[in-house]
Amino acid sequence: MPKYQFDKWTDLYANRTGRLKSSAIRDLLSVTQRSDIISLAGGTPYTRDFKLEKIVSATTACMLNQGNDALQYGGSEGHVGLKKHIVKMMSADGINVDTEDFIVTGGSQQALDLIGKIFIDPGDVILVEAPSYLGALDAFTCYEPKVVSIPLDEDGVRVDELEARLRELAAAGIKPKFMYLVPNFHNPAGVTLSAERRRRLIELSREFGLLLVEDNPYGRLRFEGEDIPSLRALDEHVIYLSTFSKIFSPGIRLGWIMAPHPILEKIIFAKQSADLCSSSFTQRVVEEFLNENELDPYLNQLVKTYRSRRDAMLAALDEFFPPEATWSRPRGGFFVWARLPEFIDTTEMLAEAIGQKVAYVPGRAFFADGSGANFMRLAFCYPSEEDIHEGIKRLAGVVKDQISLYHSVAGLLRAPAQTEEKAGN
Ligand SMILES: Cc1ncc(COP(=O)(O)O)c(C=O)c1O
Repeated sequence: MPKYQFDKWTDLYANRTGRLKSSAIRDLLSVTQRSDIISLAGGTPYTRDFKLEKIVSATTACMLNQGNDALQYGGSEGHVGLKKHIVKMMSADGINVDTEDFIVTGGSQQALDLIGKIFIDPGDVILVEAPSYLGALDAFTCYEPKVVSIPLDEDGVRVDELEARLRELAAAGIKPKFMYLVPNFHNPAGVTLSAERRRRLIELSREFGLLLVEDNPYGRLRFEGEDIPSLRALDEHVIYLSTFSKIFSPGIRLGWIMAPHPILEKIIFAKQSADLCSSSFTQRVVEEFLNENELDPYLNQLVKTYRSRRDAMLAALDEFFPPEATWSRPRGGFFVWARLPEFIDTTEMLAEAIGQKVAYVPGRAFFADGSGANFMRLAFCYPSEEDIHEGIKRLAGVVKDQISLYHSVAGLLRAPAQTEEKAGN
């Protein structure tokens, strides 16, 4: 059967299906996987330094020690052996929980979808940062909310703006269902929410009964500075998500979500209807891997790699980018967020960049209201330092061309007016 057929079933789809679009990132990745393109686009964790023999032994141990269970369905809540390790990791992050206080999910992306599923009716108001994680916007949008965006700056979300919006909404009798945030090493903005703003956010959540959803995939990838207590450590009513994707492997598809018990119960029901349970097999392989205390040394190595790549990107931006551009200086995670002059549209510029064999993600993808046209996300996680240097150099050339083009067109447009003025004199 031909792959590209006329879709004669359009009258059958649910309304929400119209909101399901191929994500900008996925479309892009298909082009940027070409070996001649330096991709600063995808937030792909660097898994190439992983010693595969360690996974071979963990898989062998899994089969020998618990092979039958690994091949069976498991509980929707997740495998207790793995959850005990997550409890230890959480306690090191200042979050004291029991194995019953959270469930294992198919990556944190599934957790985002489950949150949308249990909270959002069409037209409900939800709050997000602007910019926000594209995958979360996609997951929530499917449930047809009205998305209210709160801007962020170098210290994370603007809590003063949030307070103003909460007051406006309360005055209009509207109670937002939740606010979604990525406080550490934000995707895409690279910024971290300050300790002071975290405290203020918790105060506001209490004052307005606002449920907070804290997504923390990058918190353990800190390059320098002190950890800042998570929102969940400050208040146990916060819904908290994390994942093994960025600290170990995205291929195993394992994350976790903790929430107050009444909410967690609904999330479990939603998960049961989505996939019954996360993979019994990969949960046990990761358990065996963690039994050997292999994660921390691997994480230290990852942090070193990502730190050097971040340094390479910032150095290349300083060297090549024009003075009209500014960018974030992340202290961890995967991303630098660059701002170009307002007259540049990074979605339109992408074709030029790909022509020069370099790719990034255009800013607009990360804003629910379609703004952000002059921003771009630059990921330093996957390419080598040499490729980052070369990629930023090529991109700087594209940006400078856009700026010169704008000035020459603007000059041409100004010219007749000046002539007329002269004539008038
Ligand atoms: C902020 C954020 N949340 C969630 C995810 C999804 O991760 P997972 O692989 O755990 O589904 C990502 C992946 O890029 C992310 O950046």
